[in-house]
Amino acid sequence: MSNYFDKRDFPVFERYKGLVYLDNSATQQKPAAVLERAERYYREENANPLRGLYELSVKATDAYENAREAVRAFIGAKTVREIVFSRNATESLNLIAYSWGRANIKEGDEILVAISEHHSDLLPWQILCKEKGAELKYLECDEEGRYTAEGLRAALSPRTKLFAIAQISNVFGRLNPIKKFTQICHDNGTLIVCDGAQSVPHTAVDVQQLGVDFLVFSGHKMLGPMGIGVLYGKEELLEAMPPFLYGGEMIDTVTRCGASFAELPHKFEAGTVNAGGAAGLHAAIDYINELGFEEIERRENELTKLAFEEMQAIPHVNIIGAKEWQEHHGILTFTVEGVHPHDIAAIFDAENVAIRAGHHCAQPLHQFLRVASTARMSLAFYNDEEDIRRFIGVLGTLRRKMGYDG
Ligand SMILES: Cc1ncc(COP(=O)(O)O)c(C=O)c1O
Repeated sequence: MSNYFDKRDFPVFERYKGLVYLDNSATQQKPAAVLERAERYYREENANPLRGLYELSVKATDAYENAREAVRAFIGAKTVREIVFSRNATESLNLIAYSWGRANIKEGDEILVAISEHHSDLLPWQILCKEKGAELKYLECDEEGRYTAEGLRAALSPRTKLFAIAQISNVFGRLNPIKKFTQICHDNGTLIVCDGAQSVPHTAVDVQQLGVDFLVFSGHKMLGPMGIGVLYGKEELLEAMPPFLYGGEMIDTVTRCGASFAELPHKFEAGTVNAGGAAGLHAAIDYINELGFEEIERRENELTKLAFEEMQAIPHVNIIGAKEWQEHHGILTFTVEGVHPHDIAAIFDAENVAIRAGHHCAQPLHQFLRVASTARMSLAFYNDEEDIRRFIGVLGTLRRKMGYDG
């Protein structure tokens, strides 16, 4: 298959001509290569993976395990034993909280969470702390979304067992210095969970270089199908963790009164796995690798700069977070004075421009920023200058549409 690496590769834009899709942080559109790979799995390779001893089941197993190897190489993990497939970033985070958390957190311990975290990287820790009598603490940022090494050091205590933070916040778009934060955490004997849902699709991530203990992300936010996600964990940590879900596939032997469990990573993959999703994710990784992160970042930076500068020039539009476009990484969250974000999104929708409005699953952050809700446009490499012009065109006339003079 030959790719153009632009909208021509994405059948949705053929079907919805003129659609300006700027909700890429919620989910990305899928190139034909991904759709065809997932479909080919079901046409030509489908059987229950990891179970059968016949040819088709071996094909299904190969599709699944080859995808795992592609993920390993993509994020620079040492071994495929460190790559667990899940449904999405949310499930990966819950797996850590249920398995590692319930085995290691006790009364009096502390878990530190960045205030800007998505609810998926907050609720599992909140519930765990309540259950165990541990304390949930928040690391606050400044109003530009900046977290500092000094702030982190001050927030850690000898009782802090784990720190959870996104590499890129889905509201600010800022890239956090995860490598530095990992060193600080490890000096304190604290584990670090990195939520890569918004970073892995947009920038090269190498888990060994970052040193993080856990990294999670979702396939659907990086051109892949829905229903397939990843948990990376250091082998020695995963090895020591009990299973999360119990049932088929994750066992070694079962007797009437007990069971022993499969080797990594299968210990954490109970039940029939999503081999079609994994094959689609593999195709997404191939697509991204072929285009390359240098080109992805070049395009996304160019569009971020253009959108940021044009937005700044429009009166009554306030961009949340950093005052420099370089810190936004394709995510521009904003308010328009006097206009509710739901009205903003509805006006955009009427012009065939898809953006997000609400709290973006980050309510504590909105409370911290003292803003009820916001609107957000988020980019992918397949957006183009025309998309930004259309977006700015609507934004520039929005208040007048709502009855204001300007
Ligand atoms: C930073 C971040 N973390 C986690 C998630 C959850 O992803 P999913 O719904 O795919 O589990 C999202 C989704 O928007 C996100 O932006």
